[in-house]
Formats: sequence, structure tokens, C-alpha cells
Amino acid sequence: MVQPKSNDYNTISAVPFAPNLGAEIYGVDLSEPISDEQFAEVEAAFHTYQVLFFKEQKEIPPQQHIDFGKRFGPLHAHPAAPTMAGFPEIFEIHATKDSKVANGEFWHSDVSCDETPPLGTMLQMHILPPCGGDTMFSDSYAAYDDLSEPIKKMLDGLTALHSSEHIYKGRYSDRGRNDKDIDCPEATHPIVRTHPDTGRKSLFVNRTFTTKINGLSDSESDAILEMLFQHAEHIDYQIRYRWSLNDMAFWDNRCCMHRAIWDYWPAERKGRRVTVKGERPV
Ligand code: SIN
Repeated sequence: MVQPKSNDYNTISAVPFAPNLGAEIYGVDLSEPISDEQFAEVEAAFHTYQVLFFKEQKEIPPQQHIDFGKRFGPLHAHPAAPTMAGFPEIFEIHATKDSKVANGEFWHSDVSCDETPPLGTMLQMHILPPCGGDTMFSDSYAAYDDLSEPIKKMLDGLTALHSSEHIYKGRYSDRGRNDKDIDCPEATHPIVRTHPDTGRKSLFVNRTFTTKINGLSDSESDAILEMLFQHAEHIDYQIRYRWSLNDMAFWDNRCCMHRAIWDYWPAERKGRRVTVKGERPV
């Protein structure tokens, strides 16, 4: 049974999206700097709901988007993705009729292959298809909580390799980035991580980047990873968000995964993404 969450704010209104995770946030204008009080409430809601959808937004000027991101910490530089002209901190999400792939089509936590993967990601959408182009999110706290005690015990202390060459090599060639100028990081992280702010444990593996459980044979690792991926992707932990123009989503990569659905080809979808640097998972 999911417990009701606190919604005790003075300057924002948080409307739960679903009992498991997500909230629509009203009363905040992100196109301008927000007060310290409002920032503190946004941060509290972020820790409560894991993914926030800021509604009724104007287009956020690029520098303001960057500045808002920096209030949560230093920004993260994506190792491979194309950036916005004049704003290297902004990753442009863009799919057109000429795209060979769209971003984030499989379940993942952003750039989990980094030694210090992103804390959170802020995406504002500026061009939407007539329908479709939803983004799904899943709750990695609940995925951990629901594991049986013997499996929790087995995972305790295990680490996994998160790799990216299979994802990033050639990935953005249709957007002008070639293999020579990209870096493909890989890193080892605990399979169960503890959130530094909430103290809650989450399952930290994803089928995009997690390639091997360290210390196991390949067949053991493949079987256990597949079991964990399927478990973490269970429909009970998911929400599916339908965007409105200028909505800004802000998700916590430490305790949720996401997946973008490319069901709108040949229509166009475009947005700007700022990513906040995280800490080494523990
Ligand atoms: C991503 O950042 O992984 C893509 C999200 C989206 O395009 O909805």
C-alpha cells in the first residue's frame, strides 16, 4: 500500500501524478529566477516525488535554464550528445523525419556509465508531435523495496559495470558528431545505492548501460541482470507522461529510470536538457 505523500508547501502546488511517483508542479515560473523559499520547496518536492512536471511554463531562456540547474549543483557534461549553439551546457533532444534513432528509447538512468552519474535531469519541450512522444518513468525505490529478502541479501555488496561504447559509438552521427570526438566512459557502481538526501535504497541497474555483475560468470550475470531489469521495469512501478508544450520535467536519476517513446515518426519533437552532476553512488 503506497502511503500518501506530504503536500505542505507555501509557494508551490504539487499534484501527485500517480501513487507511486511523479507530481505536477504549479505556481512556479521557471522563465525567471525563483526565490530561495520557492527553491527549497521545489527541492523538497523533488525528494518526495522523484520526478516533477512543471506545468504552465513559458519557454525558459537557455541561460535561465542553466542557472536554475546550477542551483542544484555543478552541471554535468554529456560525453557524446550534441549541444546547443552557444550553450555547451544544454543537450538538445531532437528527432525529425531524418533521424535514425531518438534519444533514450530504452529504460535507463542518465549516463549511469559515468563515475559520478547525473543527480537529475531537466528537460523542457518546445516542439511536440501532434500525439505521442510520451516519456515513461519508473520508481527504483519501489523496485528495491519489493525484492525478496534472499535477493536483497544476495545483492548487498555486489557491484556492476556500466558501459557506454555500445550506446555512444556512432549514436549521434546523424547530428554531426562523429566517433573521433566522443568519449565512452565506463564505471562500476553498487547494484543497490542509497540516496544521499532521502536515505532510501534503490535498485541501480538499467538495460541501457549495465553490462556485467562483477565477480559472477557471464551466464550468472546475464541471468540475474535480466531478472533485475524485468523486475525494475514492471508496470506497477511506471508512469507515462504526456507532454504539453513548454512543460519542464525534472527527474532524479538516483532513484528513477526513464524511457522516451519514439512512436511519432515522421513528426518532429525537440527540447532542451540540462543535467546536474551527481555524486559517486554508494
Ligand atoms: C532522455 O533524456 O533520455 C530522453 C527523454 C525524452 O526525450 O523524453
